[in-house]
Amino acid sequence: MTNETLETLKTRRSCRAYKPDQVSEEELNAVLEAGTYAPTAMGLQSPKIVVIQDPETRALLSRMNAAVMGREGSDPMYGAPTYLLVLADAARPTAQQDGSLVMGNLMNAAASLGLGSCWINRAREMFDSAEGKALLTRWGIQGEWQGVGFCILGYPAADPKPAAPRKADYIVRV
Ligand SMILES: Cc1cc2nc3c(=O)[nH]c(=O)nc-3n(C[C@H](O)[C@H](O)[C@H](O)COP(=O)(O)O)c2cc1C
Repeated sequence: MTNETLETLKTRRSCRAYKPDQVSEEELNAVLEAGTYAPTAMGLQSPKIVVIQDPETRALLSRMNAAVMGREGSDPMYGAPTYLLVLADAARPTAQQDGSLVMGNLMNAAASLGLGSCWINRAREMFDSAEGKALLTRWGIQGEWQGVGFCILGYPAADPKPAAPRKADYIVRV
C-alpha cells in the first residue's frame, strides 16, 4: 500500500551538498509550520525552532559545531543556506523526545517539497556551553533550553546516497 505521504517518508534522504541559493520564504514557512504541528507530550508545544540564515551566524555555528567534534576548519553544515535549530525546554522531562519529533516533521516536510535537509548533531553540547547560552541570550531566548539538533535546509546540489536496505530484524511481531 502506498500514498504520497508514505512515499515521502520512504524517499527522504539526508542531503550533504547544497546550492548557495536561499530557500524561498514560502517553502521555509511551510517547513516551519509542519514542525510546529509535531506531537508534543501533553500538547505543551515545548520546543522552539530558531531560523538562522545570515552568513555570519551560520559561520559561527558551523565553527562551534566543528569544535565539538575536534574538527576545526571543517563545515559540518555542508554549506546549507538555512539552519533550523530545534531547542527543547529543559524543564520538560520529554524535552528531547518533543524536539526530535519536530526535527522529523521538518525533514519530512522539506522532502515533500523537494528541498534537501539533514539532521546535524551536537546541538546539545553547543547550547550547554557558555558560548551557546550567550547566543540564546543575544537572540532574546530566555530560560533553560537544551539543543536537540540542527535541521539544515536548502536546494540539493547532488543526488543523495540511496537508502540502505532496512535490517531484517527491524520489526518484531509478538
Ligand atoms: C540523531 C541524529 C544525528 C545525526 N547527526 C548527523 C550529523 O551530525 N551529520 C550528518 O551528516 N548526518 C547526521 N545524521 C543523519 C544520519 O547520518 C542519516 O539520517 C543516516 O545516515 C540515514 O540516512 P538517511 O537520512 O538518508 O536515511 C543524523 C541523524 C540523526 C537521526
